[in-house]
Amino acid sequence: MGLKEELEELRTRALANIEGAQDSKTLEDVRIEVLGKKGSLTAALRGMRDLPKEERPTIGKITNEVRDAVEGALERKKQELAAMELEARMAASAVDVTLPGRKQPIGTEHLINAIIDECSDIFASIGYTIEEGREVETDFYNFTALNAPADHPSRSMQDTFYVLDRSGDVASVRGESDVLLRTQTSGTQVHVMEQQQPPIYMISPGKVYRRDVADPSHLPQFHQIEGLVVDKGITLGDLEGTLDYFIKKFFGEERTTRFRAHFFPFTEPSLEADVSCGICHGEGCRFCKNTGWVEILGCGMVDPNVFGYVGIDPEVYTGFAFGVGVERLACLRYNVPDLRMLLEGDMRFLRQF
Ligand code: DAH
Repeated sequence: MGLKEELEELRTRALANIEGAQDSKTLEDVRIEVLGKKGSLTAALRGMRDLPKEERPTIGKITNEVRDAVEGALERKKQELAAMELEARMAASAVDVTLPGRKQPIGTEHLINAIIDECSDIFASIGYTIEEGREVETDFYNFTALNAPADHPSRSMQDTFYVLDRSGDVASVRGESDVLLRTQTSGTQVHVMEQQQPPIYMISPGKVYRRDVADPSHLPQFHQIEGLVVDKGITLGDLEGTLDYFIKKFFGEERTTRFRAHFFPFTEPSLEADVSCGICHGEGCRFCKNTGWVEILGCGMVDPNVFGYVGIDPEVYTGFAFGVGVERLACLRYNVPDLRMLLEGDMRFLRQF
């Protein structure tokens, strides 16, 4: 094959390779292969020296044509690839401004806290203070000063969580500790009466603990709201009127209340309050066990013995107290069938409120 044919073939191959290059890197490799120091066209040019003089102009001309053709094709392809690559980069990093944004879910107050706040607002609006109690109590505040007899079953290990007192005394391990997780918020009554002189109008919400296995109607930890009023001339009528007011505010004006005699060690007389059933409105249904009423809270007139523990003169002052379960308020208002649902943190349940 003569040099002329070789150059023609070189051109054909080079142009085909240039055309076939898919990216800048491959194109550069083609350029080096043809026009680089050790490139095929460079070698051909070098070979010119060995040609007879008369052939040089023709071959020289062809070589120049081949070089021009190759360089032209390289330049066009280079621009074409650069444009394609820019396009690809832009497509890869494109932002679709029409896509809808991602919503961040917003948390809300838990149902139990919401009810505590709502009850606090109702009582604050009629002049009550909101007091903070203690979750870890002594036997004295949880039982003794509330007139609970020494043999009362709620004092037993089976009903109450006793904790090690600070000395880590072995007696406390055997259940003889006088430090415990409070079983009721009523102890706060005693703290408040020790620290404040009457008139006292207060409520105190908080957690309480009992040695119960969780089931649809029991929890080992739940919430109560304690109430205490101590003033001159407070009567059972004040108790009933106040609680009737609260129940109507919380459940609705159409609801009625009734009071039944009951027993609590720290009140005399003691009562339980029922609210008319929200499902059958007093007709009788499964929810209220056909009575038309559902039990809602415990209450009573402060026992003079309790005043005795805190140095308030029962000849001058009288008072009433009440305690209501917050989980019970939630269940009655929203027909929650199982108390455990309130603790599970299941968003499908919590979102309903
Ligand atoms: N502490 C009582 C309980 O846990 C509830 C209670 C009843 C509180 C009567 C009171 C009250 O203040 O007067 O069952």
